[in-house]
Amino acid sequence: MKQTTFLLVFGVVLSFCQAQSETGGEETGGEEEHVELFTTPATKMGAATSDFGYNLFRALASRESATNIFLAPITVSAVLTQLSMGGSEQAERQLYRALRYHTLQDPQLHTTLKDLLASVKAPGKGLSTAARIYLARRLRLKQDFFSLVEQQYGVRPKALLGGNRDMKEINDWVSQETGGKVQRFLAKALPRNSAVNTVSAAYFKGKWVTRFSQSGVMENFQVDGGSPVRISMMQQDNYPVKMGADSDLSCTIAQIQMQDDISMFIFLPDDVTSNMTLLEESLTAEFVQDLSMTLLPAQVSLTLPTLKLSYSTDLLPLLNDLGLAEWLETPDLEKISGQAATLSSVNHKVVMETAPEGNQYPSATSTTSHLSYRVDRPFLYLIRDEASGALLFIGRVVNPKDLSI
Ligand SMILES: *[C@@H]1O[C@H](CO)[C@@H](O)[C@H](O)[C@H]1NC(C)=O
Repeated sequence: MKQTTFLLVFGVVLSFCQAQSETGGEETGGEEEHVELFTTPATKMGAATSDFGYNLFRALASRESATNIFLAPITVSAVLTQLSMGGSEQAERQLYRALRYHTLQDPQLHTTLKDLLASVKAPGKGLSTAARIYLARRLRLKQDFFSLVEQQYGVRPKALLGGNRDMKEINDWVSQETGGKVQRFLAKALPRNSAVNTVSAAYFKGKWVTRFSQSGVMENFQVDGGSPVRISMMQQDNYPVKMGADSDLSCTIAQIQMQDDISMFIFLPDDVTSNMTLLEESLTAEFVQDLSMTLLPAQVSLTLPTLKLSYSTDLLPLLNDLGLAEWLETPDLEKISGQAATLSSVNHKVVMETAPEGNQYPSATSTTSHLSYRVDRPFLYLIRDEASGALLFIGRVVNPKDLSI
């Protein structure tokens, strides 16, 4: 996408901070990591699922302008890949293109994805997910498809009876898979004539490496075109982050380390604005990877909103924007049913929490931070698995007050 020159306006201050920082020496060797990132099957798959995720996020962001939005795209990749196993060769090709698999040339694609999903769900990472296909029984379903998906992904598609029992069944399953954290997955029953439905959900409670000593501090958050709202914030001085400023995108970026090789990237526009189109347009796996190599270690006075959010939506209309309009007309799911089976819903729900806890205290220094990073206006964030580069969560926060669990 757009090639962005990365300008460190804080260069001088940052190098000063870097000299003070104990982790400053780790910057060398970054190039090697970059080369590594897109060469193994796992990291190529990580990049593919991320690029699909950014495309999905862009599609949602442009349809829902100036609102809070959140996605756990990797779970959508997971469920649409399951669905691709039920398609004709052409249907598979169409789905693979949208999922950004077409350049992978990975003969073990399903195994690679399965392993990636297992690695990002490792217990320490704080992510739980659910991804499953639900099919109307009246389609006269082919049993081989059930076994195929179950063998590959360990989750068996489910036949629906139709009616209210289905909603309870789906909601109970999602709740169970997410340790009770994603409740009421469907707020209303599936339409009576629904055929093929995909379910994807995620819960994330990441743990910081470095804890915040102050939490629950009520502070102002600026809102585009409205008066500030009072929200709960976490605060910590001398907090180790990686940081940089992008003059083309007019934002400052901070990468905050979480436990088990996860990190959060925050993109904070210089101005109070809910229009982050330019920024949203730049996001690709490669852009974020290049960016992460440019950020420099710094100790900052960090102020972050205490996030507690829940978001659900039907992603079906967005698939039109991802080059799947033609496929949606005739999905060709010949391995699922001999009848014409169309996609009825692509429901998705995410729940995420941040808490001040971490397993380390910031290093005690006699001087306080020279830089402050205050996330007190609309921002965009993403959560990335560092080992694979896979995008786990992405969100736009325009008004934290509107967020609720
Ligand atoms: C958002 O910003 C872009 C350019 O950054 C501009 O083209 C677009 O018109 C803006 N959208 C709105 C709704 O203001």
